[in-house]
Amino acid sequence: MASEHLKQLLLDGPVPEHVAVIMDGNGRWARARGLPRYRGHMAGMKAVREVVEGAIEARIPILTLFAFSQENWNRPTREVSALMRLLQLYVARERDELVRQGVRVRVHGDLDRLAAGPRAAIDEIQAATAGGTVLRLNLMISYGSRAEITRAARLLAERVRAGELQPDEITEATFAAELYTADLPDPDLLIRTSGEQRISNFMLWQIAYAELYMTPVLWPEFRREHLFAAIHDFQKRERRFGRVTTG
Ligand code: IPE
Ligand code: IPE
Ligand code: MG
Repeated sequence: MASEHLKQLLLDGPVPEHVAVIMDGNGRWARARGLPRYRGHMAGMKAVREVVEGAIEARIPILTLFAFSQENWNRPTREVSALMRLLQLYVARERDELVRQGVRVRVHGDLDRLAAGPRAAIDEIQAATAGGTVLRLNLMISYGSRAEITRAARLLAERVRAGELQPDEITEATFAAELYTADLPDPDLLIRTSGEQRISNFMLWQIAYAELYMTPVLWPEFRREHLFAAIHDFQKRERRFGRVTTG
């Protein structure tokens, strides 16, 4: 069944080059089972593995996952600590497999706010997977889009002050070059799980023309089949980028 769906996808047209995912619904998944919230986050790790493997199978070259937002720092300390421990567990458990699969992991966000343990885990996974050429996996951690955009403005202002750049050289391209995603194309498809119909400060600049796909599936239950369904839906969309289509 899974492979049939996949075959159809690859036949039906181009797959997105860059898929971004807002992984949401871990807490509700846990609550529905009478479990503490961190158990939902734990269960979400399996979904991360699924979506990574699904992306490789569907030949998507770039996958970006929203794992922890800047605003998530405002959650109870216990939950934040559990999420940080989970990041370290993820690196310990998945590192060798990610290397074997040819996944190159990059982590973006305000990483200065992280404690030494999670910071070390990030350094480790980035170093270990640096040679991966099959899938680029971007983990957005301690990430907020407005903060990223403000940072880009600050970096450009500093370059102007240093005399490296003229104000009229600030273009969409020079601006985008100061974002964390400087070397990546914009996402073609943005998936959000758990039924929420909002963006929650995620990649506001980069999703200008992304196709949106909201699914009620809670993140811990997300499987590669759900990714394939989203791609299938994407393949039926007509992307116009403001133009008109003839015929
Ligand atoms: C997503 O699940 C994971 C993070 C935001 C870290 P949530 O923890 O937001 O789960 P819900 O939205 O409360 O169900
Ligand atoms: C967005 O989910 C952040 C991540 C998925 C990491 P949230 O659960 O934090 O978003 P809101 O609060 O429902 O908008
Ligand atoms: Mg949520």
